[in-house]
Amino acid sequence: MTAPRDLLNPEYYAGVRRRPMEAEILPGWCYTSKEWFDMEMERIIRPSWGFIGHANRVPNPGDYAAFNYAGHPVIVVRGRDMKVRAFANTCRHRGVELLPEGESNLRGAIKCPYHGWVYGFDGALSGAAGMEKAKGFDRKNYGLTAIRLEQWGQFMFLNPTGTAPSLKDWLGTLWNESAAYAPDDLVVTRRKSYVLDCNWKIIVENFNDESHIRTVHAKSLLDTTEKYQAPAFYEYGPGRWVTSYCKHEGTRSMIGGVDGPQGFGPMPSLGGRYAHGSYHPTIFPHACFGLCIDNGWVLEVLPIAPNKSRLTVNVFFHKSALERPDFEQIAERYYDRFDVSTDEDNIIQQALQRGYSSPDYKPGRLGYEELAINWLHNWWLDRMFGLPDKDVQIDERAA
Ligand code: FES
Ligand SMILES: [Fe+2]
Repeated sequence: MTAPRDLLNPEYYAGVRRRPMEAEILPGWCYTSKEWFDMEMERIIRPSWGFIGHANRVPNPGDYAAFNYAGHPVIVVRGRDMKVRAFANTCRHRGVELLPEGESNLRGAIKCPYHGWVYGFDGALSGAAGMEKAKGFDRKNYGLTAIRLEQWGQFMFLNPTGTAPSLKDWLGTLWNESAAYAPDDLVVTRRKSYVLDCNWKIIVENFNDESHIRTVHAKSLLDTTEKYQAPAFYEYGPGRWVTSYCKHEGTRSMIGGVDGPQGFGPMPSLGGRYAHGSYHPTIFPHACFGLCIDNGWVLEVLPIAPNKSRLTVNVFFHKSALERPDFEQIAERYYDRFDVSTDEDNIIQQALQRGYSSPDYKPGRLGYEELAINWLHNWWLDRMFGLPDKDVQIDERAA
């Protein structure tokens, strides 16, 4: 499917704009065109809040993570005051990249490798060698460029343009609704990253596809979901998120499910419907959370190119599980499940990319278990077309 010159002609997206059970999926160029991808970074990803990991990526003062976020080289660093901050990874003197991509600890300060300017963990410039004779130079004006970072519990989000509403407003009712999961007490104990030959949206769509469990995960998760039913309901906002809710008892986070190996049991904070099912909120545009009875997981998706993304699977538990002497041993059973199911998803996600790249691809239709994909498509398209972000509330119950 060749990309047309007038990418933003609304006629091309009329099929996506229909009601969910009448709608088509996106044209192929939305997954393959560099021009479309660049517009997405500018209009969807950078002006939004995007998930960048748990704050324990940088547990101690001076710990940092340097990475590229949608074209922004970023440093996330914990200060001596224990606050986590994000900065542009570029020196304020002559602009060199300050830190190589990766995670490590800075001893004492951030020191530029070129001429040795020195910045504190709070971004303030404390040493500027060679500037003694520069007229009117004030160190105060040359601190590192701050990039907006806010937290939902210990989960960190970035908004590179600094233009989004507060993260709390972004999450809307999800902020309070998810309080049952005590987000401050959830601890990511494993991050595992994959570089995939697929567009970032494919990962988010696959997460919101409830029907592939019966096929793609037939050999792994189906035991876990043998009493699998379509989600009991879907919700959309108020706020920038969609979710499905599946009613079930026991774990869905280990191979073998309720009849499988011993897990940690329900997280202590959960009551009501939260203790009897799983939520799968996707916070727009691309943070996918699996909130389960005994643990949870979150997909961190970094777009790299139209056909390349970095996926990091974060697995988390309530902090009380970590206090158990057998924590590591039991946690392995959960990690096994995520390794197996992620490998299965990655194969199909890359096959989707190849399908969308075919000159013969034509947009297909969505079924009920893919309903949230249409909501995502429409939110993404609204951003591409510069339309206002509506405060929507939709509750779809399964028939
Ligand atoms: S570019 Fe960093 S000190 Fe010169
Ligand atoms: Fe899957």
